[in-house]
Amino acid sequence: MTDDELFLTAILRCSRSDLYTQAIPLTADQQKQFDDMKHRRANGEPVQYIVGFTEFMGLRMDVGPGVLIPRPETEVLVDYVLQELSVEKKREYFILDIGTGSGCIAIAFAKMLPGCRVISVDISETALAFARRNAEINGVKDRITFVERDVFWFMDENLDRFDAVISNPPYIPTFQMDKLPQDVQKEPGLALDGGPDGLHFYRFLIPSSLRKLKTGGLLAFEFGDGQRKELEKLFDEVGGWDKIRFNKDNVGKFRVAVARKQGVI
Ligand SMILES: C[S@@+](CC[C@H](N)C(=O)[O-])C[C@H]1O[C@@H](n2cnc3c(N)ncnc32)[C@H](O)[C@@H]1O
Repeated sequence: MTDDELFLTAILRCSRSDLYTQAIPLTADQQKQFDDMKHRRANGEPVQYIVGFTEFMGLRMDVGPGVLIPRPETEVLVDYVLQELSVEKKREYFILDIGTGSGCIAIAFAKMLPGCRVISVDISETALAFARRNAEINGVKDRITFVERDVFWFMDENLDRFDAVISNPPYIPTFQMDKLPQDVQKEPGLALDGGPDGLHFYRFLIPSSLRKLKTGGLLAFEFGDGQRKELEKLFDEVGGWDKIRFNKDNVGKFRVAVARKQGVI
């Protein structure tokens, strides 16, 4: 859909085809809403912030300033994890979702794995407010616990052992932050900035997840294009991991890592 079509379908609560098959006139209020939306877009605001929602794995996710807009490559991460977990043929999974943002990953698992419980951690109060609302909209709020915490503290304080640790952490190198497209720069820096080389979170995530996983447990995370080699090195240096694999996204780039904590499943 074009931006205008998206705005009009959001204002009129109709489908794209309704726009062309029914001559629905705009009231004065709706015309003003439409003009405001176009003005915000012209100022570089992401379309999803303007209409207030997006879709992730076919699920509605409310978004707005202060929360990362879920991306299609993160759907690829969720798909790989679902494939991995289906091998285990268990009914119940206990999952840790690090840097939950809109809650998209946790909510997708809660919808698709009826026997799973998720703990979702994020340092941002604004992001967590969206995540809680999205869990409610999607009818899974009873199976997700949202925790407002810096993950660097959480990993030491929390005593649970998980079947899977999943994360889409910030991974853009700091020096690239001001080169991002204008609309991406409207998203929170906290959700994007992965430190000087973009690998800050992985240096912590790869060793600390060993302490949080059950034997044979699954670590899966998204990473940036071109970061694979450094991540391979990190896994090697840390040790304790088996079956380390790097998977491609829909355009053929390596963007997802999965590994198992050493031991028998
Ligand atoms: C790339 S976003 C991912 C959001 C969501 N999981 C997704 O895939 O769309 C990273 C998230 O990590 C959170 N974050 C950044 N630093 C953090 C920290 N030290 N502790 C916990 N969460 C953090 C940000 O607030 C942001 O929501």
